[in-house]
Amino acid sequence: MSGPRKLHIKSYGCQMNVYDSHRMADTLAPQGFVETAQPEDADLVILNTCHIREKAAEKVYSELGRIRKMKEAAAADGRQMQIAVAGCVAQAEGKEIIERAPVVDLVIGSQNYHRLPDFLVRVNAGEKVVDTEFPAEDKLDFIAPASRAAMRARGVSAFVTVQEGCDKFCTFCVVPYTRGAEVSRPVAKIVAEVERLAAAGIREITLIGQNVNAYHGEDVDGRASSLGRLLNRLANVPGIARLRYTTSHPCDVDDSLIAAHRELPALMPFLHLPVQSGSDRILAAMNRRHTRADYLHVIEQLRDAQPEIAFSSDFIVGFLSETEEDFAATMSLVEEVGFAAAYSFRYSARPGTPAAEMDGQVPEAVQSARLARLQALIDDQQDDFTRRAPGRRFDVLFEKPGKYAGQLVGRSPYLQPVHVNASTALIGEIRSVRINNIDRYSLFGDLEDAPAPRATAALAAVEA
Ligand code: SAH
Ligand code: SF4
Ligand code: F3S
Repeated sequence: MSGPRKLHIKSYGCQMNVYDSHRMADTLAPQGFVETAQPEDADLVILNTCHIREKAAEKVYSELGRIRKMKEAAAADGRQMQIAVAGCVAQAEGKEIIERAPVVDLVIGSQNYHRLPDFLVRVNAGEKVVDTEFPAEDKLDFIAPASRAAMRARGVSAFVTVQEGCDKFCTFCVVPYTRGAEVSRPVAKIVAEVERLAAAGIREITLIGQNVNAYHGEDVDGRASSLGRLLNRLANVPGIARLRYTTSHPCDVDDSLIAAHRELPALMPFLHLPVQSGSDRILAAMNRRHTRADYLHVIEQLRDAQPEIAFSSDFIVGFLSETEEDFAATMSLVEEVGFAAAYSFRYSARPGTPAAEMDGQVPEAVQSARLARLQALIDDQQDDFTRRAPGRRFDVLFEKPGKYAGQLVGRSPYLQPVHVNASTALIGEIRSVRINNIDRYSLFGDLEDAPAPRATAALAAVEA
């Protein structure tokens, strides 16, 4: 075969999928695959799919309809296009996907990406391949150190997988089935990966995992490390100025994590902590393993430890048997906490989950009306949060040039985009910015004269 083969990967769903897509591209690069943004040009199209809600899963089939036409056009040109479905729909539906969409050549579950090259050989020989087994070998082997993958995320900021899978079994959720049991990478491997990223100029690391604060990877002394302890270790890696982690479960916020928020200036004061509902009856039906009071207590402890902390969350509206009173409890929880941002979804029954077998479906019109009320409240809170920025001073990590000449864009500790007139020499650096204007969720400001103290310390460490 002459010339490089072209690969198009489309990711749906969470950050873990984005990361896995980069990993797949890395696995295929030695086979001569280069990435293209145009699916119609590709020799191999991979859809890396999400099964979390019905809408997400159905998107895949409409996309496969479009891709079927591209494959036919390619065939008419005498060119073969192969189609793979990866990710959580692949894991959940397996060979049903090929039955429903015969255009698909390969269905590959999230734990088998390292075997892609072998599977493609079989596909090239005309076979349809389905592999959604959870391999017997150590799952840790394929949460491979993926520094190249991680670094593509953003120029100055990278994601690092530290944990995968979930043992919580919330009754509505597919993740324990699509991602399997919880495993954690050993501390030494994570530290080595972060050191490599830092040496390549990365300044901010976001640790990712489906249930990241259940992290319990083996430490150098052979004991299990908590996420708090891991964050302490990573905060000392020269060059790393900012740490984040996502997504957390309220039950796994332990003392070491709270202490990390108190003690580590590099740990950003912005935490995504999904609560799902404000009603104890619904939380129990969801098997969330925490009450409303537990959640509020965790929020209070974190605020005591780090007064600057802001929260975002996830909510499911109209879960089975949710009454107006239950929903009112969710609204009052939102009022009580005050979120900087939040995502809310209508409950969607997922095949194979315990809730899919239970009664009490709330009518769609009721779900939608409640969702609209919750989203209006959340929008107000997010607006309030943004409106509090003017007049404040934020440390900003600069990422890239802005839309206009002379403009740079960076992120505040709360991930808000901040636009400043400044030289591109500041990309990758942290500077103190006084915010003077806002536009929806973007901030605008001016550089303050002195570099932010935290940035200087981190830079000095790099230069040393
Ligand atoms: N591991 C994370 C994220 C899970 S998926 C966590 O534990 O929070 C992201 C969000 O999707 C969830 O927080 C939940 O709000 C939502 N979600 C999950 N399953 C859902 C379902 N069946 N219907 C509607 N929303 C759902
Ligand atoms: Fe799903 Fe619950 Fe696990 Fe989150 S904690 S991934 S919502 S089962
Ligand atoms: Fe979706 Fe799977 Fe992530 S179901 S949210 S892609 S773990």
